[in-house]
Amino acid sequence: MEKERKTEVIRSTAEMREVVARLRSAGETICFVPTMGYLHRGHLSLIEAARKRADRVVVSLFVNPIQFGPNEDYDRYPQDFDQDLAACRESGVDYLFCPPGEEMYPPKYSTYVDEERYSRHLCGISRPNHFRGVLTVVAKLFNIVCPDFAVFGQKDAQQAAVIRKMVADLHFGVEIMVEPTVREEDGLAMSSRNIHLTAGQREDAKMIFQALTRAREMVESGVTNTDRVEAEVTNMLTSRRRLRVIYVEVVDSETMERRREIVSGKSLLAVAVWVDEVRLIDNTPL
Ligand code: PAJ
Repeated sequence: MEKERKTEVIRSTAEMREVVARLRSAGETICFVPTMGYLHRGHLSLIEAARKRADRVVVSLFVNPIQFGPNEDYDRYPQDFDQDLAACRESGVDYLFCPPGEEMYPPKYSTYVDEERYSRHLCGISRPNHFRGVLTVVAKLFNIVCPDFAVFGQKDAQQAAVIRKMVADLHFGVEIMVEPTVREEDGLAMSSRNIHLTAGQREDAKMIFQALTRAREMVESGVTNTDRVEAEVTNMLTSRRRLRVIYVEVVDSETMERRREIVSGKSLLAVAVWVDEVRLIDNTPL
């Protein structure tokens, strides 16, 4: 029989700490799924993996201001608390942790976590302080929730790589799990930002997955030259009127550094595009 789960909402760090202390002294293991809310099937797949891995599942919902650049979409990041809570209840989350902004970043806040290698490539170029913001909030959340495991999505492959590096470098006692990208039927990677796409933009965005698929086919048929794959993918993306390429790069799947030759099982093709004013990222292992 399934243990009954009725998601408890936690709105302060002190209360979260108390709950964690109680769970730990009862010998229960904790799996943590950090999110910025507006939950979709991608998030739910992480929750499902979390349930399989530990006794208790904690999901956090916090739109982290410091990972957004000055001209980015922090102010219009989609939110729907009631729907997120319902989704957590249905998927068997034990605790939904919604830390208040003033507790996370009080007025004189001044401590940040920065990683200087893996975060410098790909999105690190076009979003200079993004990973510093992500690592800082994830480190803080790890310290509050003290999880045994934490789950991230392959959709944000560089984020997962940078977090893994932080965990290793700073000796966090958390095991990082990475789950595959969940896609819409036509291949578009699920993202909270997809809600901003109009029908026309949505149509053009389909090309992202088609181009990733083409890249995989090229590699399967023996192509190992990075330039050739990147050129083909760039061509396919720019054939759509509303798409602008931010980057198309074959990188090492651990370090995110660009590779000249594709090494099967160790290379990743990562892309970022503007669909008009909506920024989307995606990737595929090669
Ligand atoms: P958010 O974009 O809400 O994503 C939360 C988690 O869901 C991340 O680990 C992300 O990789 C995963 N995810 C998103 N779309 C997915 C998909 N289509 N398939 C599988 N997993 C998917 O990523 C963040 O929030 C933030 O940066 C955060 C880590 C919470 C720090 O603020």
